[in-house]
Amino acid sequence: VKVDPFDLVVFGGTGDLAYRKLYPALFHRERSGQFTEPTRIIGVSRRHLDRDAFRASVKDALVRFAAADEASSADLERFLARLDYVAADAAGDSGWSDLRETLGGDDRIRAFYLATGPDLFCPIAKRLGAEGLATERSRIIVEKPIGRDGATADAINTDIGSVFPERAIFRIDHYLGKESVQNLMALRFANALLEPIWNSAHIDHVQITVAETLGVEGRGAYYDESGAIRDMVQNHMMQLLCLTAMEPPNSMDADSLRDEKLKVLKALQPIDGSNAASLTVRGQYRAGFADGGPVPGYLHDVGRHESMTETFVAMRISVANWRWAGVPFYLRTGKRLPQRFSEIVVGFKRVPHVIFDMPSDSIPANRLVIRVQPDEGVKLWMMVKEPGPGGMRLQHLPLDMSFAKAFGMASADAYERLLMDAIRGNAALFMRRDEVEAAWRFIDPVREAWAAMREPPRPYAAGTWGPNASVALIERDGRTWNEDEHDGE
Ligand code: BG6
Repeated sequence: VKVDPFDLVVFGGTGDLAYRKLYPALFHRERSGQFTEPTRIIGVSRRHLDRDAFRASVKDALVRFAAADEASSADLERFLARLDYVAADAAGDSGWSDLRETLGGDDRIRAFYLATGPDLFCPIAKRLGAEGLATERSRIIVEKPIGRDGATADAINTDIGSVFPERAIFRIDHYLGKESVQNLMALRFANALLEPIWNSAHIDHVQITVAETLGVEGRGAYYDESGAIRDMVQNHMMQLLCLTAMEPPNSMDADSLRDEKLKVLKALQPIDGSNAASLTVRGQYRAGFADGGPVPGYLHDVGRHESMTETFVAMRISVANWRWAGVPFYLRTGKRLPQRFSEIVVGFKRVPHVIFDMPSDSIPANRLVIRVQPDEGVKLWMMVKEPGPGGMRLQHLPLDMSFAKAFGMASADAYERLLMDAIRGNAALFMRRDEVEAAWRFIDPVREAWAAMREPPRPYAAGTWGPNASVALIERDGRTWNEDEHDGE
């Protein structure tokens, strides 16, 4: 579907996010023929480049990150011709009149993408207002992290909100743009089968894992200030939890969906100084083996002698509402784990009575595994009889649906979907202000409790599944982290 012509202004236009994610995503949309003339993409940064040098740098990035080649040369030329560049100081005065001139007075959709550090969100938003650049048809797109805590998020939201109305503010959590995350909604609400059993009467517990093999990858300065709780839990993991736990929204309309997610966030039972020690586990990786070779530890990666920052978090969360009373949600995420995958595991209850000649605990419960990445798909683990005359021997096997096999194509990158939704003005897959703030209201007391405990995160060797305490967190309740399909666990 074509989109109306637009001007997309990328602040941080020569940064890593822009080159790795934004231009490649836009280029793929170009290739699919989605743009109408005269659509323009304008990079803004402090660097003194002219338009041609900027185009050349984007071309290099597309060759590296979007596999642009001979076969795509016509699309590539068309795409590069859309690019313009303005050197401007986001926090100072230089370059703003050039930007105003470049944008001109056209009444077309204008999107300002802030691919910068969060400290520039407020200055840029205010300046856009002061320069009169925030027109009726303008939108602003900001990346996580929105703040470091509830108070700073509130300040950022207030500043941006003084220039742009809420409907024009698009807060990105790129997990919401992942195909498999959207599929979770299809699975839950386009199948009559699941919804009747999606509650505490039938579900024993839920697990959400976002495991990464990478370390902090040159982002040490940011990461050491942030830690896994701000980097992953406050946003991506909270969103996965909300989509799994929310009530059916009335429609896919942005506010219907976000109202339901907000209700989940408000129902989370607080974790604070009174219970954090038993409901949370923090870890920090030491040297070990990951990504096929030896790797140094976290302190080496961030160039510090000591750090209280966690690179691993596991927690047990309760959603205090009618549907989920008594059903724990176990979350874990970490850097330098043995494998990269994200998944949501819904663990159903065991059969109430065993008719076969075997101990009752030898029949594992059904599990629905929603694989977010890689190898996106859904598996339903069930008990089946082993073939053969030797009596009733049972096995646990999956009904297995791989999206790549079913559709014969790889999923589009999250940014393709999100950028186009923002341009079209569809906010369903973006975070509303109250949602971000409610997520911080849950996270802030956890961090405060950790700070008050003054205990360093528990060490774990790179390439292992985090501190043993994470295993103990779930095994204490008579449950285990899902291991059904991960080699080498
Ligand atoms: C980002 C975090 O938001 O998400 C990174 O800042 C993390 O630390 C990344 O690596 C994970 O995203 P994905 O899409 O690779 O799972």
